[in-house]
Amino acid sequence: MRFAHRHLLGIEHLSQSDITAILDLAETYVELNRQSAKHSDVLAGLTQINMFFENSTRTQASFELAGKRLGADVMNMAMQASSIKKGETLIDTAMTLNAMHPDLLVVRHPQSGAVDLLAQKVNCAVLNAGDGRHEHPTQALLDALTIRRAKGRLHRLSIAICGDVAHSRVARSNLILLGKMENRIRLIGPPTLVPPHFREFGAEVFDDMREGLRDVDVVMMLRLQRERMDGGFIPSEREYYHRFGLDNEKLALARPDAIVMHPGPMNRGVEIDGTLADDINRSVIQEQVEMGVAVRMAAMELLARNLRSEAA
Ligand code: CP
Repeated sequence: MRFAHRHLLGIEHLSQSDITAILDLAETYVELNRQSAKHSDVLAGLTQINMFFENSTRTQASFELAGKRLGADVMNMAMQASSIKKGETLIDTAMTLNAMHPDLLVVRHPQSGAVDLLAQKVNCAVLNAGDGRHEHPTQALLDALTIRRAKGRLHRLSIAICGDVAHSRVARSNLILLGKMENRIRLIGPPTLVPPHFREFGAEVFDDMREGLRDVDVVMMLRLQRERMDGGFIPSEREYYHRFGLDNEKLALARPDAIVMHPGPMNRGVEIDGTLADDINRSVIQEQVEMGVAVRMAAMELLARNLRSEAA
């Protein structure tokens, strides 16, 4: 299993075989994580630092669990209590931590491109845990693993990504990954949230859920990213839910075995009906969370193998 990358900064740098290598290794960790003894020592002796400059539940918790289950020494930097608050720059912070010889740095930052910049200044492997509107590669990989397990394949599927595409790094990483794996992608939402230039990714664009959802295999809903909006993108949440919120009536237009996904955090009653989100016959939202730990274990193991072979 060859993975010739020093960092995991975005899906755009990965080939089809890189993606398959991560997913295949992650499958083995799905099994490990379901056992009562979940420990392995593939990262033993290595130091992992998690730096989250933006809030997170799923990504931070799963990177921490992933590192601990693989035997790494894991440190979560409390960025709100760090010297960033005294005016220290991102790069000076990164170089300071780099001097303590970490092996894996997991970084989430509100600015697109900040994680790439940081990766140029440190000696260790950097994993992008989400940067601005740019990329969230491990989210797209965990989504891909969830789809592959539910559908038995990750190619030639019809996949709808619905809602606030414009502000979503999850949508961007998924568009790139699912396109590389030769799927048909539909983007559905109001033109303010799905601008026409997204057609450049090879996707079809719809502003009508009933038209866009017809016969799709996968429905991926997105959160309205209010924190990244600087104006009025929707008339009201009530009208948005009426037109673009996923409920059973709209889902009935998709294939009868279509799965429902959401990267979280969810706004129930805004982009998705709460009962549908909890329906274990259609929704794979909890599986996505489970796959997140396995995918992050696999990604860190593959990067650590390269670090070790460089050092040998
Ligand atoms: N999907 C996702 O990135 O969730 P968190 O913001 O909780 O990490």
